[in-house]
Amino acid sequence: MALENISPVNTKSWKNLTSHFKKIKNEKINDFLEDKERLNKLTISWENFYFDFSKNRLNQDTINALINLANECDLQHAIEAQFSGKKINVTEDRSVLHTACRCSTNDKIIINNIDIVPDIIKNRTRIKSFTESILSGEIVGKTNKKFTDVVNIGIGGSDLGPQMVTEALGFYKNHINSHFISNVDGDHVQNILKKLDAETTLFIIVSKTFTTKETITNAKTIKSWFISEIGENYIEDHFVAVSNNEKEVQNFGIKKEFTFSINDWVGGRFSVWSSVGLVVSISIGFDNYEKLLIGARLADNHFKKTQLDKNIPVLMGLISLWYNNFFGCESEAIISYSEYLQKLPSYLQQASMESNGKNVDRNGKKVTHQTGNIIWGGTGTNSQHAFFQLLHQGTKLIPCDFIGFKTPLYSENDQHDILMSNFFAQTQALLNGKGYKIVKSELEKNSQNEDLAPFKSFDGNRPSNSILIDKLTPEALGSLIAFYEHKIFVLGIIWNIYSFDQWGVELGKELASSLLDDIRTKKSTSKDLSTKSLINNYNKG
Ligand code: F6P
Repeated sequence: MALENISPVNTKSWKNLTSHFKKIKNEKINDFLEDKERLNKLTISWENFYFDFSKNRLNQDTINALINLANECDLQHAIEAQFSGKKINVTEDRSVLHTACRCSTNDKIIINNIDIVPDIIKNRTRIKSFTESILSGEIVGKTNKKFTDVVNIGIGGSDLGPQMVTEALGFYKNHINSHFISNVDGDHVQNILKKLDAETTLFIIVSKTFTTKETITNAKTIKSWFISEIGENYIEDHFVAVSNNEKEVQNFGIKKEFTFSINDWVGGRFSVWSSVGLVVSISIGFDNYEKLLIGARLADNHFKKTQLDKNIPVLMGLISLWYNNFFGCESEAIISYSEYLQKLPSYLQQASMESNGKNVDRNGKKVTHQTGNIIWGGTGTNSQHAFFQLLHQGTKLIPCDFIGFKTPLYSENDQHDILMSNFFAQTQALLNGKGYKIVKSELEKNSQNEDLAPFKSFDGNRPSNSILIDKLTPEALGSLIAFYEHKIFVLGIIWNIYSFDQWGVELGKELASSLLDDIRTKKSTSKDLSTKSLINNYNKG
């Protein structure tokens, strides 16, 4: 058995946590912060990161009980099983080795008696030389002009990772402009195409399966546009594929030299480390792309080798579980104090919700505990002026991760302290709130309407994690993403679910294809009246 099958709710630790929760659920974080040792215990300095987990509704007993739970659920063995290539993606009969894509040349990863590292390095070298040839102009479009634009055509993990990383590292961008087409929204496709010159554009079709309807539809539309712009003969010089479906790639007209593979042990939502990251490499240069991998590798080594109570992603996962399964929190917000990280919540949404949105355990039985969190968020300070009202005064308890940087990217930027003062202010406001009595006395002092006191009061005691990073470098981003990936893994292991399949996306795909027939034949075959009437209405135009 690749993974143990342990129901968390039947463990001794879960029972302990349940009674411990009753004891401390109303306690104040500020009272916990009276403990002089709290910062020693709940902050971690690691490489260029400083993690502060101290503003949480938990104490050392909670952490100890959560670690016991992780041990009872065999987390340590599960980590080993993942990194050593055991087929822990049982329902798809696959290993989970996106982590291998960030290996170093000295590593050895033996799968079925074969070391997979040389192949990974060979592929990385291909990405390097392809990137360099595009950037230097050694590879040019068919009319001998250098490429100026690259378009990534993919969806889900074949879009969100490359797009998020390219944008997050936009500071390191070179002369190539990157564009992303994911949705099967013809208007968006046309809107991007109208900005492009076919002669100087490189199209990368990213689809592990090369059968994903949205991607293939978009790719075909773009191919037709390209032919109408400069002709059929030039396709093989302007279209690249990242896929493991060689046959379909070839049928599309893409040559071998422009085809990059993805191993079957790389899941879509974790694939930016594989050839799927080609657009990242072209946009910011291979050296920066490699630094991203190095950062992720450092985080992997930390995850593999650090004892659980000092292990960053383990603590991130356990704290998340504490709120989800004991406080009954349903969502978590990710707030980054950098506009460059605007796409991070969407990226983590897929990584987390496609992985842990499961209601069946490893026995195939319905779970009796809550699993996947709803992940959302935005950037500070924008989010403060949008949804923070609910975080501060709403009825829901929403744990937040605040991510910020000590140093800005531009030396001319003299606003950074203002930005970061907001980060600290928000976490402090969530923590302390502002009690009714204080608000009332302030109103009284200022001869203002005291009836406003309940509306202007903040309960506080709302939890947050702070992640303070030296600077938004490729290495730091790599580590940050890897930590979140491992957090997702930790949760999936303890929840006793399979985190690496995604059967839940299949039904909608099947139905869309039969409803498209209904639309095209103008005959609604749906049994339910609502859909039938929607299709009839749509068909009327
Ligand atoms: O949405 C389901 C999914 O399979 C994702 O997991 C994946 O990232 C995406 O579709 C795209 O798949 P492909 O790369 O095969 O086109």
